[in-house]
Amino acid sequence: MAILFTNIKQLVGVRDSWQPLRGNQLAYLPVIDNAYLVVEGDCIAGYGQMNEIPHAINDFQEHYNCEGQLVLPCWCDSHTHLVFAGSREQEFVDKIKGMSYADIAAKGGGILNSAKKLADTSEDDLFTAAFARLKEVIALGTGAIEIKSGYGLTVEGELKMLRVLKRLKEKANIPVKATFLGAHAIPASYRENRDEYIRLLIEEMLPAIAAEKLADYIDVFCEDGFFSPAEMEKICRAGKAYGLKPKLHVNQLNSIGGIEAGLRSSALSLDHLETLTEEEIQLLSASPETVCTLLPSAAFFLRMNYQPARKLIDAGCTVALASDYNPGSSPSGNMNFVVSLSCTQMRMLPEEAINAATLNGAYAMELGDRVGSISVGKKANLILTKPVPSLAYLPYAFGSNLVDKVLVNGEWT
Ligand code: NIG
Ligand code: FE
Repeated sequence: MAILFTNIKQLVGVRDSWQPLRGNQLAYLPVIDNAYLVVEGDCIAGYGQMNEIPHAINDFQEHYNCEGQLVLPCWCDSHTHLVFAGSREQEFVDKIKGMSYADIAAKGGGILNSAKKLADTSEDDLFTAAFARLKEVIALGTGAIEIKSGYGLTVEGELKMLRVLKRLKEKANIPVKATFLGAHAIPASYRENRDEYIRLLIEEMLPAIAAEKLADYIDVFCEDGFFSPAEMEKICRAGKAYGLKPKLHVNQLNSIGGIEAGLRSSALSLDHLETLTEEEIQLLSASPETVCTLLPSAAFFLRMNYQPARKLIDAGCTVALASDYNPGSSPSGNMNFVVSLSCTQMRMLPEEAINAATLNGAYAMELGDRVGSISVGKKANLILTKPVPSLAYLPYAFGSNLVDKVLVNGEWT
């Protein structure tokens, strides 16, 4: 099946070669005005200016006129917790009344609340709910996604989540990467014996997960009250022995050495980064191969300081944007909103935000050669916007759904 898209007002993110973008490279987003695009099968087969269309229009089974519309690569959401049971709006109300995220967690709420709900939910029900969320975010333009475990916190529970993830990978028509986050919280029953939980994670969960090939990456929530930098390094070492590269939660609430430990663990990405010292920003800029993944909708929802995106970019870091979709700190997987928040609250330019949410997000999932730009041979995972005056209108009109249509694998969704 070949589709010809014509009269595209602007074809966005067009690249012959693609590398992760760092520092001032993020501000350059190549576009073609008044463009055509050819999709053959599940891939992008060609593009250019309208006056260069190579074949007669009749050669294509389908012809789509994109008058006034922009075409972008789909969002690459490299950090989510989209598999979860139930919701936590009661904690949301408690937060409005004044409780902090840490207060709620200390009372057995937060992650442990989701773990309780997950224990009572069957694998099939979990899958059905997660698949519905996945379809929702694809309709919002997400064309590649990473999803974590971490609400199981027992051997059975983590395996259940990761088996759901395996089914999502098989059923979804977008690339899905699975991350093992057994080190999301210490279960209440191990509070006095955290070393035993870490032993369980390393000696029982990891081998079982590896035996069924259920995970691509390993993650740890490195934070006061959760896991220390030394514990994180130990867990990363164990994960790496099974071929799982680290993608880590660090510096959301406190700066306790997670950046140094994450870099020593050769993390693929270090995620959150709300709380960063100048020295940590320098360390990150000296390691551009580690992607700094910013999650502004979590800062928004928790009323925390936003990540210092400007400082990170100006220091030369490789910055990606992701939704952190989860029931506690970001109950939304809407990447359009994430891009908009990055501009309004973190002063990222629209071009920087779109690059961070596409190509750099793809790199944070090792999918840079398959998605994240308009390039011949890459997956035809595309967003067609509604008619808009310009690219900057997308983050500007933050409350409007400007996604008209989404194509994944060369098929309309
Ligand atoms: O990325 N910070 C840790 N994990 C999630 C929150 C999970 C939850 O509250 O359920 C996050 O924000
Ligand atoms: Fe997260």
